[in-house]
Amino acid sequence: MLKSTLIKATEAGARVMAEFFQGSFKISNKEGINNLVTEADHASEKVIFEVIKKEFPDHYILSEEAGEIVMDSDYKWIIDPIDGTVNFAHGIPICCVSIGLEFKGEMIFGAVYNPFNKEFYFAQKGFGASLNDKMIRVSEEPRVISSCLVTGFPYTYLDLPNGPLDVFARLIRKGVPVRRLGSAAMDLCWVAAGRFDGFYEHKLQAWDSAAGFLIVQEAGGRVSDFKGDPYSPYQPHIVASNGKIHDELLKWINNPE
Ligand code: IPD
Ligand code: CA
Ligand code: CA
Repeated sequence: MLKSTLIKATEAGARVMAEFFQGSFKISNKEGINNLVTEADHASEKVIFEVIKKEFPDHYILSEEAGEIVMDSDYKWIIDPIDGTVNFAHGIPICCVSIGLEFKGEMIFGAVYNPFNKEFYFAQKGFGASLNDKMIRVSEEPRVISSCLVTGFPYTYLDLPNGPLDVFARLIRKGVPVRRLGSAAMDLCWVAAGRFDGFYEHKLQAWDSAAGFLIVQEAGGRVSDFKGDPYSPYQPHIVASNGKIHDELLKWINNPE
């Protein structure tokens, strides 16, 4: 029931998102510059809530636009109704719905669906990760210098040592390709599918990574914070990789030399 509700909710949100994409929709700004929210984000969130609440009215929900519905429950749904909103608002079809489900503080399910290329990523803790029902694995690349990486930048720039542009410049100066898709959930899924060898970002929220980090882990990858400690979606830093380049990638992020 949990799995089918998760899939139903993800598909329902994505359907709404795809409908809005065809026409015009209202766009507003949140805090910061170009931190957008559209009518479609709210509409996607609404149908996702409807699907989940119909089956599990007592479950806890954490969702980007509506905030938290605090319940005394072991289950917590963590929802990004559109990940990649800036892409969406500009007609760039690199965006998705992302939903993770925690049980007693542990992520047990993750689903990410991009309705534009019809890629549905799914993972269940201990049961592997799939793309459109076919099992996926991370890449085998052993070195950062021959990797293809992806990153993202926060809406408000973080001016700190080893900040987003410092790490980006460090990699680019050495000739390492680093892409920027604009959707952290897609970034993580593409690591899981072996398209990227690694992903890092300096400031994510729980809803950006909840589903994607489990999908990477279940595809055989490793996910950590910048210290290399086990990942928690409730802190900002993320490094996700095929595992083989992980320790080396941490050095590129933390050490200027
Ligand atoms: C954003 C995307 C982007 C990442 C930002 C996120 P949103 O989420 O995941 O890739 O760089 O940090 O906030 O706002 O499109 O849901
Ligand atoms: Ca997001
Ligand atoms: Ca969002």
